[in-house]
Amino acid sequence: MQTQIFAHRGASRYAPENTMPAFRLALHMQAEGVETDVQLTRDQIPVLIHDENVKRTTDGSGFVQDYTFQELRSLDAGSWFSKEYEGTHIPSLEELLQWVASRPLFLHLELKTDKISYKHIEKIVYDLLQKYNVMERTTLSSFNEDTLKNVKELNSSIDTAFLTSTKMRKMLSYLSSIPADGLHIKHTILNRKLASRCRKNQIPLRVYTVNRPAHLRKCYHLKCSGIFTDVPDIAWSIRKAV
Ligand code: G3P
Ligand code: CA
Repeated sequence: MQTQIFAHRGASRYAPENTMPAFRLALHMQAEGVETDVQLTRDQIPVLIHDENVKRTTDGSGFVQDYTFQELRSLDAGSWFSKEYEGTHIPSLEELLQWVASRPLFLHLELKTDKISYKHIEKIVYDLLQKYNVMERTTLSSFNEDTLKNVKELNSSIDTAFLTSTKMRKMLSYLSSIPADGLHIKHTILNRKLASRCRKNQIPLRVYTVNRPAHLRKCYHLKCSGIFTDVPDIAWSIRKAV
């Protein structure tokens, strides 16, 4: 099976990250799926934004968790990227699911619970996945293993993945002790041995964030299950050539 290409925060090199234009572009560039980051507003609406603070990617300031959804919606999440995207808003998870439901895309939803513990985020996200009937093509990932536990308690058949950026001795035995079906690693810790162990044990290994041609080739040669990339178009053309 060839390495699958997932657009990291959408096609985020070309459009503002984690916005509908970036997701639409990912599909246009033939990505097999999209990756995005989920947090909760003060009124418990799951929204797609990477940082806990809105400052970097909007014209506002302060924490996502302190905004109501309506307040957050009024922020401009496009102008920081370029004038062309002025007026683009932060999408809710529901907006993305509504769009994905009728399109051929896998979904990688990262639950951002490593710095802030969003109460009930797992159940809120789970209910929406059911509502839009996209559970079978969704993986829920997190740096926080307790989040993965909570997900599996809701439904043991939901696909989960553990995120890590640090090299760990006995990575696979650690992985088998937590409720994770797959492993998502930073590209700097990818090596041949880990890739081959994951393959032998049938553990999906996906790598982030892979943008450079040499790094993309390495992932393809090591037969990683997937990559997260800001440049799905480049990832696609290199994959075609290897
Ligand atoms: O899901 C993989 C990757 O997105 C994790 O890192 O910081 O880009 O959310 P980050
Ligand atoms: Ca992420």
